[in-house]
Amino acid sequence: MRLVLLGAPGSGKGTQAKQISQKFGLPHISTGDILRQAVKDAIPLGLEARGYMDRGELVPDHLILNLIKERFKSPDAQKGFLLDGFPRTVAQASGLEEMLGQQGMKIDLACSLNVDREELIKRLTSRRICSGCGAIYNLLFQSPQKEGLCDKCGGRLEQRVDDQRQTVENRLEVYLRQTQPLLEFYGSRSLLRDINGNAPPEKVFQDISAILQGK
Ligand code: AP5
Repeated sequence: MRLVLLGAPGSGKGTQAKQISQKFGLPHISTGDILRQAVKDAIPLGLEARGYMDRGELVPDHLILNLIKERFKSPDAQKGFLLDGFPRTVAQASGLEEMLGQQGMKIDLACSLNVDREELIKRLTSRRICSGCGAIYNLLFQSPQKEGLCDKCGGRLEQRVDDQRQTVENRLEVYLRQTQPLLEFYGSRSLLRDINGNAPPEKVFQDISAILQGK
């Protein structure tokens, strides 16, 4: 199965993707995670992407499409995948369609997590990420047992640079302008499924699982 997870920043894509990937045995491909690792490793992609990411803007399409092209060459992506944070523009979605089409493949489903704006701001500004294993926490909704430490690996919890209030507001603007048109893109191909992302994470996961099991 080739699945796209759509939704605004903070809608729960990463949280859900980790569980879907486990349950359905799909590799979780997150362009945000790949870019953050490239920034950490100070490789050329990271050096180019960093400024855009820190400002809450999108990294240019050609860099992202090259990154995805490379990632698709890995053997684990041959049978299917779960895309999180990609595509993010109509140009990326068209590029993806073309890339898959050349191999006689296509996207099977695009699930869109819909969450109210105020809730998104609350979730993002109180999010913390484990510096060790990448587990996602939230100081308001899913806090760790020991303050500042990951329940799973004991790693230190950190706040993402782009989760500061002002950057969050910019990311939401960018989403409306550049990413929301993808709902129309996938809707017009009858691939779009809407999910109420305001519900608790367990309920959102149940709803996505039911859709995927029906495929
Ligand atoms: P990226 O890493 O993709 O970030 P994003 O799309 O902005 O999404 P987030 O990771 O912020 O949120 P999420 O939806 O995964 O929510 P999460 O599950 O963590 O991109 C970062 C940057 O990289 C971009 O700004 C851009 O610069 C660049 N980039 C990446 N991809 C790109 C591309 N394709 N093109 C161009 N540039 C690109 O949850 C958020 C919080 O809410 C957590 O604390 C979680 O615990 C909590 N939570 C989750 N679900 C629930 C729930 N149901 N109820 C209550 N709390 C919840």
